[in-house]
Amino acid sequence: MSKRKPLVVVTRKLPDVVETRMMELFNTRLNASDAPMGRAELIEAVKTAEVLVPTVTDRIDKAVLLQAGDQLKLIANFGNGVDNIDVETALSRGITVTNTPGVLTEDTADFTMALIMAVSRRIIEGAKVIGADNSWGGWSPTWMLGHRIWGKRLGIIGMGRIGTAVARRAKAFGLQIHYHNRKPVHSKIEEQLEATYWESLDQMLARMDIVSVNCPHTPATYHLLSARRLKLMKPEAIIVNTARGEVIDENALARMLEAGELGGAGLDVFEHEPAVNPRLLKAKKAVLLPHMGSATIEGRIDMGEKVIINIKTWVDGHNPPDRVLPSML
Ligand code: 8YV
Repeated sequence: MSKRKPLVVVTRKLPDVVETRMMELFNTRLNASDAPMGRAELIEAVKTAEVLVPTVTDRIDKAVLLQAGDQLKLIANFGNGVDNIDVETALSRGITVTNTPGVLTEDTADFTMALIMAVSRRIIEGAKVIGADNSWGGWSPTWMLGHRIWGKRLGIIGMGRIGTAVARRAKAFGLQIHYHNRKPVHSKIEEQLEATYWESLDQMLARMDIVSVNCPHTPATYHLLSARRLKLMKPEAIIVNTARGEVIDENALARMLEAGELGGAGLDVFEHEPAVNPRLLKAKKAVLLPHMGSATIEGRIDMGEKVIINIKTWVDGHNPPDRVLPSML
């Protein structure tokens, strides 16, 4: 078993250029059909692979990891969020975990703005009116009115790379930037963004017109937006989520949208993907998208390159650059 060509098992189809490079560098087992692996296949993978390359659709939980053979040394996640992996168990078994930070920041921030615009300006509703068979009856001064975003208050939950990139864009759109984070960002960044830090999420929520979820899903952020907290929001406020569905109590959100207690929601992620809460499907003021935030060709190739660099540095006996450390969880 040569460390120069480890067995790398990739759970999903990746861009061709990434797969080709992986085949050149490693003893790579690809998933040509792109069908998500079932539990049995995942267990088989952790029993044989030296390096596993999973994605958000693979649940590498404790039960799976406990079946891993000693040969499994690296889980190089194709994705930024690592909530699909029980990192603690992996680390305790001597398995290194890496992710792909940085390369999907700008795309996800763009998509967050797209959702803010889509909900506020009713873009999807409008597109449906023309749709396939054009049911547009003609322009009217009082028809299809949305809400202005300029001058409104945006509250960003999680001011990491993506949250900050959203803030940069939103400032250019004339929004006032507010944020909640474990700690304030550097004062220079705060000044540039003219951003206001709220230590209390509750207090921030009560004052925002638009709320954007940009924090990772961790045990501490699970249902951070609980029923109680969602109720603190102004009834005309909107919420967008391009992070993880689990951060919002989806049932509570659906109930509020149904009852007209919120202005709208733009969701790219869901609590039980690919299932979508049927109540959300019926909610009039919800724009629902299938986890597309980072779905650009450029982004996927960059993610693949990060995965390759992480594996290659590990193969060469160094610490991979994007190691997930316990302090990040
Ligand atoms: C990815 C994401 O598409 O990287 C992330 O954390 O949420 C997505 O944009 C997906 O996770 C790939 O595993």
